Amino acid sequence: MDKLQSFHIEGFQKDLIAWFQLEQRSLPWRENKDPYRIWVSEIMLQQTRVDTVIPYFHRFMERFPTVDALAEADEEDILKAWEGLGYYSRVRNLQTAVREVKEKYSSVVPPDPDAFAGLKGVGPYTRGAVMSIAYNIPEPAVDGNVMRVISRVLAIDEDIAKPRARKIFEEAIRKMISKDNPSDFNQALMELGALICIPSKPACLLCPVQEYCEAFHTGTQSSYPVKSKKSKPKPVRMGAAVIKDEEGRFYINKRKSEGLLANLWEFPNCEIVPGPAAKEQLEGYLQEEYGLQVDLEVCEESVTHVFSHIKWDISLFTGSVKKGQSTSLAKVTEEEMQRYAFPVSHQKISRIAAELAEDALNQ
Ligand code: ADE
Repeated sequence: MDKLQSFHIEGFQKDLIAWFQLEQRSLPWRENKDPYRIWVSEIMLQQTRVDTVIPYFHRFMERFPTVDALAEADEEDILKAWEGLGYYSRVRNLQTAVREVKEKYSSVVPPDPDAFAGLKGVGPYTRGAVMSIAYNIPEPAVDGNVMRVISRVLAIDEDIAKPRARKIFEEAIRKMISKDNPSDFNQALMELGALICIPSKPACLLCPVQEYCEAFHTGTQSSYPVKSKKSKPKPVRMGAAVIKDEEGRFYINKRKSEGLLANLWEFPNCEIVPGPAAKEQLEGYLQEEYGLQVDLEVCEESVTHVFSHIKWDISLFTGSVKKGQSTSLAKVTEEEMQRYAFPVSHQKISRIAAELAEDALNQ
């Protein structure tokens, strides 16, 4: 990175760290340097905002306070604790990883970047963040916020949406990072990106490293970072069935152990062609897949949910099943359902199902 030839690295480190030490937010994962806590926080903070993460982090730490507690937990319980955060493979991988820490490293998160990065779900960002914050090891931790800050400071015009960009920023940060205090240095870059060097209208007048910033000097803050647009989520039309047995229990399905929303629970559903044939399509699916014979009724309600790559548009159907039908689906009461982890879209469906049941009582 030849842009660093004429860059005042020591001044930048000093001013950035001094600002962080004065201005940092008090956040629950900053209470101490327990590497397990920091690891959990960094996994939660990937693709999820700080304000959303805070209550989840408190609950998770109360339930699973140590590597051993998480290693020994039931997967159903950790998915329930993660319910609503999305990207559920994060917590399934985290459990696989802490199980390995327990077995292989006597429950101590290894203070060695390569050993740590060998664990399930630990990519370059998590490696750098946990090793630097918890163990003060000078490793870069490059996420979208850090790329924004550094792209402005050094006027780097790499497209940050491209996978190769991360390496360029890592290379620059390896040279810029404070070797005395890598923990505060990396956290300061994250904090600057969150509070000052924000995506639009950055608060340059309050910035502790304004004098080092190429984009500020040339008035080009708004041109950085260069980021190509992602393609739009592809719409997928689904039909979901809210079916009860004669005792009023709901039929729910556990998703496959691979792929989108692995191992979460859902109302039985399939892709449909919207329109008059949808009802029969879903009835046929319930018969084929679960051996359930059921006459569905169309319901006015629908639910949408946008993932990074697809958009579900789910039409709802209701029905009831006669006694004696056997199926691989679980049957649960409304109360029992609270213990199962559902994706947000199916939580919405369960709330609609509860409202429909209540309306039926009040008729
Ligand atoms: N985003 C990612 N990691 C973070 C951290 N440790 N503190 C605040 N925001 C973050």
